[in-house]
Parts: sequence; C-alpha cells; structure tokens
Amino acid sequence: MIGRRALLAGMGGLLAAPAFAQDMPSLRGLAASRGLVFGSATATYELKDADFALLLPREAAILVPEYELKRNVVEPAPGRFDFSASDALMDFAHAHGMAMRGHPLVWYYANPPWLEDAVLRSPNEKPLADYVGALASRYRGRMHSWDVVNEALAPDGSGLRPGIWLKRYGPSYIDIAFHAAHAADPAALLVYNDFGCEQGANDRFRAQTLKLLDGLLARAVPVQAVGLQGHLSAFGSKVDQKKLRDFLGEIHARHLGVLITELDVDDENGPMDGAARDRAVADEAARFLDVVLDSPALSAILTWGLTDRYLDPPDSLKLKLLGWRARKLPFDAALNRKPLWQALARAFSAKPAY
Ligand code: XIL
Repeated sequence: MIGRRALLAGMGGLLAAPAFAQDMPSLRGLAASRGLVFGSATATYELKDADFALLLPREAAILVPEYELKRNVVEPAPGRFDFSASDALMDFAHAHGMAMRGHPLVWYYANPPWLEDAVLRSPNEKPLADYVGALASRYRGRMHSWDVVNEALAPDGSGLRPGIWLKRYGPSYIDIAFHAAHAADPAALLVYNDFGCEQGANDRFRAQTLKLLDGLLARAVPVQAVGLQGHLSAFGSKVDQKKLRDFLGEIHARHLGVLITELDVDDENGPMDGAARDRAVADEAARFLDVVLDSPALSAILTWGLTDRYLDPPDSLKLKLLGWRARKLPFDAALNRKPLWQALARAFSAKPAY
C-alpha cells in the first residue's frame, strides 16, 4: 500500500496544501494526547468557507455554536422552534468525529423580544423549564455538555445579576434549569458558565461563584462543572496565577469539573504592530494556561473562534481608518498559526501525559 506521505510527495506540487494541512501537529491531537478535549466556537456561515471547514475539524475535537443555540435564534416566536442551524452544526460535528457542546440554555441576554412579557406574566415555570427540556431532549445523548445557566452573577461581584429570570422566579431559577436539563438528558455534563473568575482583580466575583456553587450543591442541584469563559485581556486586567490556582483548588475540592469554554485574548489598547500584539496575547494566554492545565479538574478547552478571519472590525472610527484588525485567536485571518496557537500547543505538550 502506498503511504499517505508517499502519495502526497508523488503528487509533487499538484496539490499545493495550505499551511495548516501540512503534516504538523494539531491542537486537537496535542490536547487528546494529554486526555483533554480542545475545540472552538463556530457558526454555520463559517463552515461555508471551504478553507475553514478543513481547518476546523483538523484542529478541534469539539465545537460549540457561537450564537445559533441562543434563544433569540432557536425560538423566534413563542413555541416556534428553529433548530436548522444547530442541527447543521451537530451534523458537521458528527461527520468529522467531533463532539458538540450546547450553549446556553438560560441567559439574561440574547433572548427573543417576546420572552420578557411571557415570562413575567406566566403563572408557572413553563417558559423556563419547558425550553430547557425541549433543547436538552432534542439533543439527548448527543451533547458533550450544556451551559445550563450562563452569567448568573453580576460582574461587580455583588451577587446575582438582575434579569428576567431572577425577577420572575427568584434565585431558584438556576435550580429549576439544572433539574430540567438533567431530567431531559441525564448523560450530558451540566455546566455553570461565567466570565468573572479569571482576572486577579475579581476577588468578590470568585467568592460569589463559590457561594453560588455551595448553595446548589447543598440543595443537591445537578451541577457538575464550572465553565470559565476565559475572555482574557493582553493590555488590561491580568490573570493572577496564585489566585486562579487557589480558586481552581476550591472547585476541585467540591468535586466539580472545570472547562475553559470561550478562550480569547483581547488585544484592545495594544500597539498597531501586529507582531507585538501577538506576543502579548500569547504571553497572557500562557500565564492562564500554565495554571488551568495543572488542574486535575480540567477536561476541555475551547476558544471563542479559531481564526481572526471573522472578527468584527473595531468600533472606533480612528482604528477603522488605521486598518486595525483584532488578533485574539489562534489563527490569523489567512489561517496561519499565530503565537497564541504555539502557546496552546506548548501548554498541552508541557502537561504530563496520562
Ligand atoms: C456572543 C457572540 O459572540 C455574539 O455573536 C452574540 O451575538 C452574543 O454573544 N459570553 C458568552 C457568549 O457566553 O455567548 C457571548 O457570545 C460572548 C460572551
């Protein structure tokens, strides 16, 4: 039998392989060799891009919809469900031997405009529990994990975040959501997902997170893991490695798992020079990864997109005119690996193999 390498060599320059298709390690493979799942958020429009559709399954073993499982997409009118996009993502994952995670079941944001009135006027828990049940049962047995409740805590560390769910059902909305998800899909890993625990300055947020989790656990609510979104900042508030390590120890002590669910590194306020920004982005990610990869509770890391190609242009007119392009993700807009890719690869390789 002719080997793949020989075959490719024999074809000479006929098939000019893009850089990412060459025989190089992938984040998918490096993570898997350490017992971890690496993946990315994506969207159906990205999968229509042929280069990207090759890159994604090569690098990622799991995907999560960037916005196509949010309630404003899934239930545009009361009781009218549209799973066309999330089904397409599930099909893509299945066709490429990838897992899929669901995000989010309950959030204060990205809800359809009709929902607020329906929730506030409802005599019962149906607008919350039925929705959770509908999604979790549709994908029963096929979701790696669900972000059951997203961002329930106020960013200032003052406690629960105001929103329609808290207003109508009080703090028990979180319990209701987890119970409904567990009843509909007992096999999916049920995650509480938020963004405030990563940066060193957020002591109060970490304390509130532990308080929330302790309450859930004391009431035997089926929460099984914590999702740290991992929206880092290269030129803003930084990770404090000791505080993060201690926090992950607290999570592990509660027998909860950890997932990094939305890693990216904001390069706002950095220099125009792309290479300098890339280094700062990679350095901050490395400081974060050093700590999280040491945690025995960690099972998965997903970035919030794989490439800078689809990032929005900056809001600021000045930056727009200067041609600023954000560089927060592992591959650049031409799908070349960046220092952030190397930081991830190095961090995976440095973790002891099982
Ligand atoms: C963002 C998406 O990137 C947008 O496309 C969408 O319109 C709004 O949500 N925390 C989360 C994600 O949990 O769902 C958010 O994603 C980013 C912040």
